[in-house]
Amino acid sequence: MSTQLYDVIARRRDVRAEFTGEPVPDDVLLRVLDAAHRAPSVGMSQPWDFVLVRDPALRRTFRDHVATERDVFAGSLPPERRETFDRIKVEGICESSLGVVVTHTQSRGGTHVLGRHAIADAGLYSTVLAIQNLWLAATAEGLGVGWVSFYREDFLRDLLGIPEETRPVAWLCFGTVSHLETVPDLERHGWRSRRPLADAIHENTWQMKETDHA
Ligand SMILES: Cc1cc2nc3c(=O)[nH]c(=O)nc-3n(C[C@H](O)[C@H](O)[C@H](O)COP(=O)(O)O)c2cc1C
Repeated sequence: MSTQLYDVIARRRDVRAEFTGEPVPDDVLLRVLDAAHRAPSVGMSQPWDFVLVRDPALRRTFRDHVATERDVFAGSLPPERRETFDRIKVEGICESSLGVVVTHTQSRGGTHVLGRHAIADAGLYSTVLAIQNLWLAATAEGLGVGWVSFYREDFLRDLLGIPEETRPVAWLCFGTVSHLETVPDLERHGWRSRRPLADAIHENTWQMKETDHA
């Protein structure tokens, strides 16, 4: 058994503050995107696309929108949670080397997508698997990725000229990093910790676990 994949999975981190902004060589970027593009997909529909956003003006506009949405979320929190949240950085949009916006097009593959007739979300699951491949490949290359979801889909669609039927699923801050933290940011800042694996494993039927509602 090769332990390298497990090592990469363990090292992968969501990155916000550690981006250096150095350019990523084109061949490395293509290798990572190729890994994403090899993801499994329902009915081989490959419903993803990757929009590479390098333009600083576009990135600043998106960063400002994310700051507004961060305020919206902060405003929904009780005081002690808000204090914790205020210390947490949620994006590295302008500091990263580039943005990779991953989109999902449900109509890709036509009307008879094999395996999707009963579960429409299977299409979206496929796009998310491409993101996970990208994230792990980037980690293997010594790069960082930070998923940003503090945005309204229509805003990002308009900003990047994404067609109406296509969903922007993630803005990924992507690029060179000084280092990867060993403990997730949310845990380091006392927002939330990991759930024990034993609580996520069920034998035959669903059993309620202590951390189910935590
Ligand atoms: C669907 C999704 C959306 C996320 N959105 C954000 C986000 O907007 N901002 C952020 O800082 N992290 C975001 N994250 C990262 C999570 O906070 C992070 O994965 C989690 O805290 C565990 O940390 P780790 O990825 O470093 O192990 C997102 C992750 C996922 C899977």
